[in-house]
Amino acid sequence: MSSQKQQPAKLSKLDQLREREQQAEQGGGPARVQKQHAAGKMTARERIDFLLDEGTFQEFDKLVEHRSRDFELDKQIYPGDGVVTGHGLIDGRKVFVFAQDFTVFGGSLSETHAEKICKVMDLAMKVGAPIIGLNDSGGARIQEGVVSLGGYADIFLRNTLASGVVPQISCIMGPCAGGAVYSPAITDFNIMVKDTSYMFITGPEVIKTVTHEDVTKEELGGAATHNRKSGVAHFSADSDEHALRMVRELLSFIPSNNLDDPPRLAATDSAERVETKLNSIVPDASNQPYDIRAVIDLIVDDGYFFEVHRDYAPNIVVGFARLDGRSVGIVANQPAYLAGVLDIDSSIKGARFVRFCDCFNIPIVTFEDVPGFLPGISQEHGGIIKHGAKLLYAFAEATVPKITVITRKAYGGAYCVMGSKHIRTDINFAWPTAEIAVMGPEGAVDILYRREIAEASDKPSARRSRVNEFEEKFANPYVAAERGFIDEVIEPAQTRSKLIRALALLENKRDQNPPKKHGNIPL
Ligand code: HXC
Repeated sequence: MSSQKQQPAKLSKLDQLREREQQAEQGGGPARVQKQHAAGKMTARERIDFLLDEGTFQEFDKLVEHRSRDFELDKQIYPGDGVVTGHGLIDGRKVFVFAQDFTVFGGSLSETHAEKICKVMDLAMKVGAPIIGLNDSGGARIQEGVVSLGGYADIFLRNTLASGVVPQISCIMGPCAGGAVYSPAITDFNIMVKDTSYMFITGPEVIKTVTHEDVTKEELGGAATHNRKSGVAHFSADSDEHALRMVRELLSFIPSNNLDDPPRLAATDSAERVETKLNSIVPDASNQPYDIRAVIDLIVDDGYFFEVHRDYAPNIVVGFARLDGRSVGIVANQPAYLAGVLDIDSSIKGARFVRFCDCFNIPIVTFEDVPGFLPGISQEHGGIIKHGAKLLYAFAEATVPKITVITRKAYGGAYCVMGSKHIRTDINFAWPTAEIAVMGPEGAVDILYRREIAEASDKPSARRSRVNEFEEKFANPYVAAERGFIDEVIEPAQTRSKLIRALALLENKRDQNPPKKHGNIPL
């Protein structure tokens, strides 16, 4: 009798929970969900389901509600308050995730919305797991005023403290405007979805008022703009699904935190593979271009290179690959674009990538073919000195295993910067085609023998003979090899096996910088 009485009460409590959960799962309701889909976007929950290993999502704070009572917000309560947060698995590894729900107040950030994000960030730091942010938000919850701004600042602090401790990846899958952009900006990688996402500090209307410039949202801060021009974004995705697949792929190369090693996969390619094509890939004429990506593809496991920042500063190429299943970060000058010269943008791009790899114990393999730093007034006035110094600083400070292969030119200051022996690179290889000198033979002769050539009866042949002399003396790897600045001059075809052996050798490398609060990188 008594048990019959208790049964309905139990059920009703369960029903209550189910009802509350169902309400949270509806977000802003079917009409707004339909609008989201019509805009080509997935909902926050669909995104999380797609991102994580099936059935692994564990949600936190599903029933959190905002505390606002002004502007009739007390009549608009959506459990979850516009952000879905929790943890799950990617390829069996723990990750934390937050996904802003544009169907609830435009995904805008309230006090409680911020608290939910901070909670998963704090836990991610404690357990050492990556944080993935899926951003789709109209910015600060306007009705909440400064409370919302405070929430942003709480997140920025955590982004900063987590930097270099756990990987942080941001997907921009809708609006991201005003100060809100600074959270993704601090994270390690930004993936922007074409046509549906944008990032800017102030939008086209404000710009029109202040500077009288006309610009569309897409031109100002769309995926193409931030991937090509500003370098704010590292990847451009064709769709939400593509962006989420990229996150999974990116994580496959990197460890869960700064105390872990990157995942090592079973080798799928022979460690002893010899690539004879590499013996003739560098053209005879030293001013002729070739594509460094073709070199990378021939060397790495299965020819698979996951390029980062592909559309930005293409004169340097950076990205992840595997060698005998080990994850490596590759930094390579690109002779096929601006002769692989180092300029402001390529220095910043390279430095950021080198520092990421160093934070997260990913060995750095450098392929060098660089004629030097780009001359020019705009470069000098733009601060090539301090920006070039960033790349130098990043390489010099890095304590992860470092291996350099000089394929052709290593001239001037750029020789020092691009993983030279002098800045603690562990193993330095050069191909027989390497040219290691203060500058190219032509430039050197024009400076040293200007008067002699001017006074010669046959000027072209006088110049040619001096250039030949210089080429013979310096346009080779042997002077550097004689000094021990190069450990081994190798046959290009054997580069893969040489790199794999060097990585195995350096597997337990230990090195450190002097104790300090932090260095002062030239920002
Ligand atoms: C509260 C917001 C909101 C916001 C949008 N909504 N943004 N609610 N605070 N910031 C609500 C809308 O009222 C609407 O509610 C729903 O979200 C969808 O918005 P729509 O305008 O219908 O969508 P759409 O046409 O796609 O335009 C999206 C938008 C626009 C471009 C993001 O909503 C917009 O301009 N919002 C304001 C952006 C902004 O100025 N934010 C503050 C920036 S300053 P209903 O009920 O109709 O569905 C900032 C400072 C951060 O963020 C500082 C950090 C330090």
